Amino acid sequence: MDKLVVYPGSFDPITYGHLDLLERALKIFNRVVIAVACNPAKKPMFTLEERMDLIRRSLAEHPLRDRVEVGAFNGLLVEYVNKVGANAIIRGLRAVSDFEYEFQMALMNRKLSNEIETLYLMTGMRWIYISSRIIKEVAEAGGSVDGLVPEPVKVKLLERLFPGR
Ligand code: PNS
Repeated sequence: MDKLVVYPGSFDPITYGHLDLLERALKIFNRVVIAVACNPAKKPMFTLEERMDLIRRSLAEHPLRDRVEVGAFNGLLVEYVNKVGANAIIRGLRAVSDFEYEFQMALMNRKLSNEIETLYLMTGMRWIYISSRIIKEVAEAGGSVDGLVPEPVKVKLLERLFPGR
């Protein structure tokens, strides 16, 4: 059976925390569609195309890359999940602080489409404190993000924050 799951998010930009979750999802599902939310309201640092490109480049040498697709969606997540023929969503949980928002989102998605289940996986301990937001904050303030994001992300972040340097 082809077990497919959608892993949605802003991915602005992708971090090693996201990749850790992806690898966990691939232990359970045959294929994962990474669904990058257009999300203009969140005023992302990177355009949709840049975020997708960074994901693809971060996975370019990954041994499981053939089981991963990168897509984009605008509007309701459940509609995208139906469109790709999946019936499950995967999300990561780091700390209790993530729970409230995730709980609300999962229940709203269930209300919108009762056939789609949301599954939560615990992020690996190594990545429990990182998020795209904190990575951008640290990089912007001149701190090192070495070992927290894939190399193409690090390069792009520094280019964007310190052009011409
Ligand atoms: O990485 P993020 O920013 O926490 O991801 C949040 C995301 C994009 C998964 C969520 O905002 C989303 O699903 N947006 C699409 C709109 C939608 O379907 N809303 C209803 C469920 S909350």
